[in-house]
Amino acid sequence: MKDRSSVRISRREFLGGVLVGGAGLILGCRMSPEEKLQRAARLPGPQSRRVWAMADPHVGLAGRHNDGRDGADWLQVCVQDVRRRIGSVDYVLGLGDLTHHAGREDELRAYVRVRNRSGLPVWYEMAGNHDYAAIPAGLWRRYIRQPPRYAVIDGTLAWFFISAERGKSDGLVGEATADWLKDAIARHQDKRNIIVCSHQAVHATVNYSGDEAASLNPRERVADILSSVRVDLWLCGHIHGGKREPGYVRRLGRTTYINVAAAGHAYATRACNGYILDMAEGSNTMLARCRDHDHDRYVRNQEARVTFPYPARFFARPVLLPARIPILV
Ligand SMILES: [Fe+2]
Ligand SMILES: [Fe+2]
Repeated sequence: MKDRSSVRISRREFLGGVLVGGAGLILGCRMSPEEKLQRAARLPGPQSRRVWAMADPHVGLAGRHNDGRDGADWLQVCVQDVRRRIGSVDYVLGLGDLTHHAGREDELRAYVRVRNRSGLPVWYEMAGNHDYAAIPAGLWRRYIRQPPRYAVIDGTLAWFFISAERGKSDGLVGEATADWLKDAIARHQDKRNIIVCSHQAVHATVNYSGDEAASLNPRERVADILSSVRVDLWLCGHIHGGKREPGYVRRLGRTTYINVAAAGHAYATRACNGYILDMAEGSNTMLARCRDHDHDRYVRNQEARVTFPYPARFFARPVLLPARIPILV
């Protein structure tokens, strides 16, 4: 690999680069989502994808409620396991409750510090109920630098992220979010595999999701989404798992549901959990393996093979498409 320190750029080259980059940025802003996807599809993509899905580190929660350490420390334990034992991953999913005390600025800063020093290049995040207040306060945008709801298109994989819409334990899918989700999925479901990521679980799917405080409300609205469009995989967090039970993965109808939480020991679970998702080009199957980050090992009875309708292809660079819908306050 080239030593960066040995690369010298002249002033003219630097200014040229800034101008070309700026033009690209302006061009990028003006391009329609379809044009962005067409441009991404023209470049050759990688032959496989490895994704680390995690949730609920609860940075800022310390003491006995977090088994004696801060959530930032537990997140660091997870990162070290991924870096040392798994190697690099193509991207990380952070499915909410990244912070503990209502999205406080110092906690967001501490989370971002771990993220930025992780050596893991791309993170797609969303807010959980503990982070929610940071969205209307503008702190989410400032520190996380992503919209609250968005799609990421990566070849034949279409990921949809919907942040929590209130700071209560029982989740909310607002009407605008549901409309966007149905419309956005409908645009992709005839050529792509559909993966939805929410903080709370879909009601009556994975273990403990029968509890209203653990699931998305109103449940009829979520049921309407699932009957209107095809969802192949639905990932969530929020339900902190200690000892993993097989019920954290469940297939119901055409959808596989997985609770990936929790990356931290919040609520004294004595466990850092996450999921490693692997898919190879041309394959219709994703291997989803639960990772016990405390002991650097996989939890075999939590493994799932998710079958998708379309063989995998990947973009060299996934395309992020924001949902331009108002924020509920
Ligand atoms: Fe949580
Ligand atoms: Fe939560």
